[in-house]
Amino acid sequence: MPLPAGEAFSLSSTEPEPAPPCVFVLFGATGDLAGRKIAPALYNLYLEGLLSENTTILGVARRPRSDEQFRSEMLKAVKEHSRTQPIDESAWRKFAGRWHYHVTTADKPKQYETLASRIKELDKLHGAEGARVFYLATTPDLNPVIAKNLQRVGLNRAGSKDAFVRIVLEKPFGHDLASARKLDQDLLELFDESQIYRIDHYLGKETVQNLLVFRFANAIFEPLLNRQYVDHVQITAAESEGMARRRGAYYENAGALRDMVQNHMLQLLALVAMEVPSRMDAEGIRDEKAQVLEAIRPLSAGQVAEQTVRAQYTGAEGIGAYRSQEGVDPNSEVETYVALKLFIANWRWSDVPFYIRTGKRLAKKASQVRIVFRREPMSFFTLWGCDPRGPNQLVIRIYPDEGISLTFDAKVPGVSMLLRPVKMDFRYGAAFRWASPEAYEHLLVDALCGDPTLFIRNDELEASWSIVDSIRDAWSKTNRPELLTYEGGSWGPSEADKLFGDPYKRWHPI
Ligand code: BG6
Repeated sequence: MPLPAGEAFSLSSTEPEPAPPCVFVLFGATGDLAGRKIAPALYNLYLEGLLSENTTILGVARRPRSDEQFRSEMLKAVKEHSRTQPIDESAWRKFAGRWHYHVTTADKPKQYETLASRIKELDKLHGAEGARVFYLATTPDLNPVIAKNLQRVGLNRAGSKDAFVRIVLEKPFGHDLASARKLDQDLLELFDESQIYRIDHYLGKETVQNLLVFRFANAIFEPLLNRQYVDHVQITAAESEGMARRRGAYYENAGALRDMVQNHMLQLLALVAMEVPSRMDAEGIRDEKAQVLEAIRPLSAGQVAEQTVRAQYTGAEGIGAYRSQEGVDPNSEVETYVALKLFIANWRWSDVPFYIRTGKRLAKKASQVRIVFRREPMSFFTLWGCDPRGPNQLVIRIYPDEGISLTFDAKVPGVSMLLRPVKMDFRYGAAFRWASPEAYEHLLVDALCGDPTLFIRNDELEASWSIVDSIRDAWSKTNRPELLTYEGGSWGPSEADKLFGDPYKRWHPI
């Protein structure tokens, strides 16, 4: 049935309803992620009426806290980090009554017995109907430990027949393919795949989700997205910040390739390059993402030398070098920047290069996907000043200035035939008057409602790790390409432009 003009449309064509009740058990409740992201997201979901009146939040960590202390810490965090300001104090007071705290040391199995009783007691008090969501905002080494300890006391099963139990995990999921598989095997002995929600917060971003809508709700662009019309694709996630405080030790074992490419960047690539799903549901979409990730051509050591660039930032005015950061080895060889040229071996994309770059301490924080189209087959206007690279580019801005623009050549008014690229530009901020929810709001509500579409399935995870592993192996065995340096605050090493192998092509300035 045609929709009335201007009517909003969702996959379910209905207004969102509050998520079903549960006891939401937040491990790592006194940590950074809980305060910065989870508490503000829960608060905003509550304000929007998207949490059931019976949802109960139980913070779990090893430091002792009373319920009251925990509530006031969470209020402070919400005040500091909520996207909606100022805080609605009376709404918070009402909501805070459902926040509780339980001290548990994650690797002490005995302590899970009292945790299980506390969950049961809170369920009874607030009416959570036996449902549980365990959110692990802890260090990754604790993921299998907590999962095992939950299972020991039967917390991997629901408290009543029709209720659900889910476990939500933060990245990294392993540090290579073998460890990711091992982690999965361990988890799958305790929980079903359908109960496991692996977070990639990029998938919670409004603009990233809009990629699906843009591609599959509009018939005019999709016919162009293939080898016949696309020259290449550039995917950038640049950060102006360096190492967040206390992250040095983690990053030393990760580097940009594992920290950003294995997850966020390859997910963006998958959403841009996937085939049209046969069903717009979690499995339909994830099947296609997994297929395209599996189709990325593995790189030989020789190709790694030619098709990858890795670099580390040095100090600049007011910017300390990576090697001088807390927790970082002064001789560290870890890359804080990486640029790659990848190919997808399928009929749609064969021979179309996908360029990916990401780095810390770059000139600007910006994420975008840029689809650069081929030139017209024969150019009438080259002599009159048009760009030999061709004007047609479709840019999906993920951050900042979220939106989509299409560039094409137009005639400059006047008697001579001068051409200049101009833009058709859609801006989220101008087109919609309401503020987008934070990525974590999307993801939390989906985990509570049992919609795994925006969470990573294990086959996607394995396909991404295979690509990353092949690059890392070649780097460590051959030391080619060697680790370069770039000045903090710049756009990274100029060698990244050489990946294009064409003097007219390069990373487009952002
Ligand atoms: C995280 C990485 O997954 O994503 C961080 O571990 C990075 O190193 C962050 O800073 C970037 O996310 P965003 O949403 O700020 O682009």
